[in-house]
Amino acid sequence: MRAVLLGPPGAGKGTQAIRLVKKYGVPQISTGDIFRKNIKEGTELGKKAQEYMNAGGLVPDELVVDLVKDRLMQEDCANGYLLDGFPRTIAQAEQLDEFLGELGTKLDAVINFEVGYDTLMERLTGRRLCKACGASYHIKNFPPKTEGICDKCGGELIQRADDTAETAMKRIEVYEESTAPLIEYYTKSGVLKNFDAEKDPKEVFEDIVRECGE
Ligand code: AP5
Ligand code: MG
Repeated sequence: MRAVLLGPPGAGKGTQAIRLVKKYGVPQISTGDIFRKNIKEGTELGKKAQEYMNAGGLVPDELVVDLVKDRLMQEDCANGYLLDGFPRTIAQAEQLDEFLGELGTKLDAVINFEVGYDTLMERLTGRRLCKACGASYHIKNFPPKTEGICDKCGGELIQRADDTAETAMKRIEVYEESTAPLIEYYTKSGVLKNFDAEKDPKEVFEDIVRECGE
């Protein structure tokens, strides 16, 4: 399974990736997670990425593409992967196609998450993450048993720096402008599969598996 998870911020890409990793036994490659890890560790890449991310913009293509290429060359990607949050621009998609062509492979599916604006805003501003283990919650949809505390490890729940209403709005705007054109790009290459991601996570997952194969 070589797939891209495509969709606006808060569409549920990360939520479905956890289930799909288990189902298909391939790694999730989230460029957002890679950048956040670099920011936490204070690396040069993290320092460069941080200002773009906190402003709700995209990190420049040249900082993203080589990083993904290196990751795809690692052994655990030999039988497939789930690209979560990459590509995000036409230029990134073209460079990915070129690279996969060189490797003699191609994408099996681009899983497109369709969600309306109000739902996205509600999901983003209500999301909480465990500072210790990274588990994801939502204050209304999936609240922890004790407010502010992770069910799994007892860690503190925090809000992502870019999940404020103002930055979330900006991210959705940037998605519309730079990332939504990929829907047409991948429709043309015949790999796009659309999913109603307003549904419950379990139903979204079942729809994906039905379409993409058991
Ligand atoms: P990234 O980390 O990829 O963020 P994003 O695309 O904005 O997406 P999110 O992670 O916010 O949402 P998601 O779709 O994963 O939703 P989730 O499952 O968590 O990127 C962050 C930043 O990094 C970018 O803004 C950019 O600056 C930079 N970056 C990353 N990649 C880049 C690239 N390729 N090029 C340039 N820059 C790049 O769900 C959200 C919430 O909703 C959760 O609380 C969850 O519990 C809830 N929820 C999920 N599904 C459902 C459901 N079905 N029903 C009800 N609630 C649900
Ligand atoms: Mg995510």
